[in-house]
Amino acid sequence: MGRPAADSRPRHTLPRVLARWATGRHWHGRALSDATFFCDGTQGEPGWWGSGRESRWRLWAGWKRAAVRLAVVAAAVGLWRWRTGTEWALALAGGPLAGLAIWRCAMAVRLWRHRGTLERPMASALAPFLGVPPRTVEAALAVEPGFEAAAGGEHVAALELPDHWAATAEQKARVEEVIRARLGIDLKPQWRTTAYPMVLNMLRAPTPPARVPFADQRALMEACPLARVFLGLDADGKPGYWDRSLEDPMVAVHGGSRRGKTSLLLSIAGQDIRRGAERVTAVDPKRVSLLPLAELGPAVRLYNDPRNVEGMWQGVAEFRALVEERYDALADDPTLEFARALLILDEVSQLSGMWAAYWHRVKSKGDPAKPPVWDDVAAAVWMGAQANANVIVAGQRLDYQILGGMLGSFGVRLLAGYMPQDYARLVGQTPFIRSQKPRGRFLLYAGDELDWLQLVKVDDPDRDFSEFCAWVREGLQGAPDLAAAGGTGTGGTIAGTALIVGLAAAAGHLGMNPEAFKKARQRRPVPGEITTPDGRPAWAPDVLTAWRGERVSS
Ligand SMILES: Nc1ncnc2c1ncn2[C@@H]1O[C@H](COP(=O)(O)OP(=O)(O)OP(=O)(O)O)[C@@H](O)[C@H]1O
Ligand SMILES: [Mg+2]
Repeated sequence: MGRPAADSRPRHTLPRVLARWATGRHWHGRALSDATFFCDGTQGEPGWWGSGRESRWRLWAGWKRAAVRLAVVAAAVGLWRWRTGTEWALALAGGPLAGLAIWRCAMAVRLWRHRGTLERPMASALAPFLGVPPRTVEAALAVEPGFEAAAGGEHVAALELPDHWAATAEQKARVEEVIRARLGIDLKPQWRTTAYPMVLNMLRAPTPPARVPFADQRALMEACPLARVFLGLDADGKPGYWDRSLEDPMVAVHGGSRRGKTSLLLSIAGQDIRRGAERVTAVDPKRVSLLPLAELGPAVRLYNDPRNVEGMWQGVAEFRALVEERYDALADDPTLEFARALLILDEVSQLSGMWAAYWHRVKSKGDPAKPPVWDDVAAAVWMGAQANANVIVAGQRLDYQILGGMLGSFGVRLLAGYMPQDYARLVGQTPFIRSQKPRGRFLLYAGDELDWLQLVKVDDPDRDFSEFCAWVREGLQGAPDLAAAGGTGTGGTIAGTALIVGLAAAAGHLGMNPEAFKKARQRRPVPGEITTPDGRPAWAPDVLTAWRGERVSS
């Protein structure tokens, strides 16, 4: 340990020893750790004397040692020569020092819990593999209290190994496995078995970048083949995709609140719309979440009015009909290729509750217990893959109660902010891996493979999707109705594109009498109708035009 003595041995004359002593070095002048005058040493876990770890005194930065030494001398000299003044000074300094001591005690209590709930059980689990009593392992083991939040490459745990331990590859693997299972994070072990004491240091394995801005990923997204959708980057900086050539290519997104579920849905939908998706049916009980989709052209059908449950069901039924039409077409010509179709259900647990309550109100005696919309969803989930149609559900709680037998068909799962029971249900592989903190950090589980991804952030600044939407529309250039949507239109504007807001404006656009439009709309709802945050109905101009076209032809 420490640096070997230099070629010229230090001479221990009294002035030299005193100078070293006053500058915080050790009296003999040799370094006992990698500490410098300004920085603490990092070569081990600090502990107090006798605890079997690196001595805290040795790991301290030189200035701390110098300060302690000089303070003791100053106090001693002061008490001898200027008693009253020194007593005053000590009393004044005593307050803050006592505060510090109390704070350290509080930290020690926290540490004590950490020991009791993590380190001690882990030491017991390791003891048989190390061949020493659990107590000894406990003294030799240190896990950083905030290890879950450690960044990639940061030190999270250290274990001093007994001298007699053989450290074979098999033994090492066992020890690593136990520690991994208990900590629930990806770890990178560093073994030092060529010097005594032997030490295992555990670092956190690299994590994905903290942010993946859309602006930096455009090229990658534009180059992405049709069968895939770009999701984000992993710890090696490699792109992660939703691969639709997999066996069960439906997506379930499970995430606590504000983890980036909706942004992910918009990212996926936007990329597919840009590449010419035929239909994106999006259902959103929160009204505003998926609103940016409304300006992305005629493929989008957005149902975001929680008061219009029938409308949502109608939308899902139409999606199912599209899938079935495609099957019929396939029966005639199996070589047919279809443009992508997506059915997106955001906040599916909320939807489920809302739909059930509505169904309860309107159903009659002989009706099934579950609203029939679920049959349409299930049909799309089961049949969609062959017809290039995919279902994506997102929610804060995805379980069998909500998705029933469909859950197994969602072969691609993205998880963020989850609990162990969610992990067990949706991933099921051992050991449990803790969810990672940053927003947009999702665990991708597809085809038995697990990978942490930082999702591409398509809103910048937060919640502003205008740049991303512009990029999506750029890919759609040439679609005539969209040009109209961008140019004409009256009423409110959402994020850059004109929508027609309110009954009067719509009637004006269609050249109809407002009263007549109101009645016609009640008789036959406009499919792509959305609701603005203040509760007024709104439409993209081409949606209205198409609706009127249907009326004329019917
Ligand atoms: N990939 C990302 N990287 C960084 N931040 C992100 C990412 N995706 C979303 N965010 C941020 O996280 C916040 C929440 O995003 P979003 O609304 O998509 O989450 P959510 O899970 O749908 O939330 P809610 O529970 O409110 O529906 C937003 O401020 C957004 O800017
Ligand atoms: Mg959301």
